[in-house]
Amino acid sequence: MNHFELRGGELFCEDVPLARIAQAVGTPVYVYSSATLERHYTVLRDALVAHGVKDPLIAFAVKANSNVAVLRTLARLGAGADVVSEGEVRRALAAGVPPERIVFSGVGKTEAEVAFALQAGVAEINVESEPELDLVDRVAQRLGVRAQIAIRVNPDVQAGGHEKISTGKSENKFGVSFSEAERLYAKASNLAGVRPVGVACHIGSQITDLAPMAEAFAKMRGLVERLQREGLRVERLDLGGGLGVPYFNQPEPPSPDDYAAMIAETVGGLDVGLAFEPGRMIAANAGVLIAGVTHVHERPEGRRFLVLDAAMNDLIRPAMYDAYHDIRAVRPREGEARPYDVVGPVCETGDTFTRDRALPPLEPGDLVAFMTAGAYGAAMASEYNSRLLVPEVLVKGAEFAVVRPRPTYDDMLARERPAPWL
Ligand code: LLP
Repeated sequence: MNHFELRGGELFCEDVPLARIAQAVGTPVYVYSSATLERHYTVLRDALVAHGVKDPLIAFAVKANSNVAVLRTLARLGAGADVVSEGEVRRALAAGVPPERIVFSGVGKTEAEVAFALQAGVAEINVESEPELDLVDRVAQRLGVRAQIAIRVNPDVQAGGHEKISTGKSENKFGVSFSEAERLYAKASNLAGVRPVGVACHIGSQITDLAPMAEAFAKMRGLVERLQREGLRVERLDLGGGLGVPYFNQPEPPSPDDYAAMIAETVGGLDVGLAFEPGRMIAANAGVLIAGVTHVHERPEGRRFLVLDAAMNDLIRPAMYDAYHDIRAVRPREGEARPYDVVGPVCETGDTFTRDRALPPLEPGDLVAFMTAGAYGAAMASEYNSRLLVPEVLVKGAEFAVVRPRPTYDDMLARERPAPWL
């Protein structure tokens, strides 16, 4: 469910016509719906609570959408943050996420990042390997604090929509095996700089089948029970994120209620607090990328190219993962749909959003919206081809605010300087 719909022949975000935003801010531009963000968070929390999960920590995966206004919208509802870099810790704090609701994941946290996180007082550092455990212990002792850590386990199950976003197989770089986890947990409980508070897993992203999750979570339950039998204290089980969303050409993913029921079945009744790290399921359908049509180029021999002012640097998912995004005309014209190859202006064949997509008639100056672009859209944007970083707008009801303005070319150039010998 989302708040982008046609009203009187044009696409709105909540009560704002997308064309009005495009007019005011220019294109390309990302537009997010506060109501959709809020709804997705609330639906997930309520489903978990309804299935008996007490006070879940829902730590939004900041990597999915790192805009501070988006984070603040969620923080106000009580969301925490799952972060993977010092930059993300800083964003979460700037958005008002309390440090005790911040979870720090990632395989390569540096000493400086760990020190920053510990000084900020983050709730949990998810340790992904033994060298990292030693690093956290060392840094914490130097700072005179005790780091709360969870051991990230790699449950060795296959899941996830694309090989580049599957993380839970043992050949992936993430986490340690179950036997290693037991050993490291015991080791951690004897280190002066750390206090193990739990175990964590995350098996992949865009998962549309609950079976691999259920398999992984059942294994995690076994681990928690073994640790507890050994007399070790386990306060938290972090089950990661990963639930998929509909990108329109796929089977409907499981609902938050199905997901919560599976959680209750697999880990219900354990004497631990549960944490979650959802990204995509909260943000994806809460955002669109609006682009303008620059040209419609029809080759005499057949292909019809829709050349947009948005490119792979603004939305990399189609080029990187062959991802499908629904494309809708902002003000659909009457007439028969025709096949278009939808491309951007970047000088690479990979800058193709889709081929042979049936769309209503489009003309230069028209606007289109890439749907389901609120997760891993703007957060993965770059300035490739020296294109200005794409701006972001947040809508609430009948209001909208530019929450990341488009930089100017002067801003872009001012970040660089000549070498002394030039
Ligand atoms: N927790 C950890 C440790 C993660 O690595 C991720 C995502 C998440 C949570 C959030 O997963 P989600 O709920 O969003 O599925 N750029 C790719 C997705 C990469 C996901 C990486 N990790 C894409 O555009 O599809």
